[in-house]
Amino acid sequence: MMPSTFQQSNSLHAAIIMDGNGRWATRRGLPRIEGHKEGSKAVRRTVEAAPGLGITTLTVYAFSSDNWKRPRDEVQQLMALLYDYLRHEKDRCVAQGIRLSVIGRRDRLSPLMRAAIRAAETATAGGATLHFRIAIDYSARDTILRAASRWDGQTAMTRDAFLETLADLHHPGVPLPEVDLLIRTGGEKRLSDFLLWESAYAELYFTDRMWPDFGADDLRAAVEEFHRRTRRFGAVPVAATGS
Ligand code: FPP
Repeated sequence: MMPSTFQQSNSLHAAIIMDGNGRWATRRGLPRIEGHKEGSKAVRRTVEAAPGLGITTLTVYAFSSDNWKRPRDEVQQLMALLYDYLRHEKDRCVAQGIRLSVIGRRDRLSPLMRAAIRAAETATAGGATLHFRIAIDYSARDTILRAASRWDGQTAMTRDAFLETLADLHHPGVPLPEVDLLIRTGGEKRLSDFLLWESAYAELYFTDRMWPDFGADDLRAAVEEFHRRTRRFGAVPVAATGS
């Protein structure tokens, strides 16, 4: 039996590693930030297309904890883009029933950014069409470590109890959404410290499409491929058991 804290079947959680912004821009002789700006538009397209494809939770990797190592200018420009997105998309999210939330560390973000996150989360809290999660200053390993450090050391830590602790770090009271479909654009094939625990049984989908070129048709192709796969979670398919 799967742990009870994992959402099952009638929900589809897609997570996206949005890679290729820099290459998209460089190939056009543009500064990297132009790739990130086009990438923001691709985020908007993806969020709009997601509910129509049966996606109920969408998590995008906008800024990893390792991205702090990028040149200062690029970090500032990315933060400015994320800030603008949170401020400007809030009303559209409310109108479309989208609940927006942010996962990751907040203590290293600016007070302005933290306020924009809080405002967007509060304004969209009632959204039930899609839970759209943006990962900012996110590291899966850091999240797992923080969850483990909450263990009291006295009683045995069950898997369910650990999952609840992990979920609680991001959205207190909301079950941990297991990733069903993990998409990575930009041609690379790695997980880059994104949702490692939650993706234990995710179907992986890699595409050469650079993130700024990603659109509704690409998302549809990924979801269709997901539905063609047989998920076994380590078991034997019922038809093969003969029972
Ligand atoms: C990876 O491409 C992309 C990022 C580190 C940033 C992603 C950010 C956005 C798409 C923009 C804003 C996001 C939201 C949610 C509004 P890369 O720069 O590593 O590309 P490269 O591998 O081609 O250099």
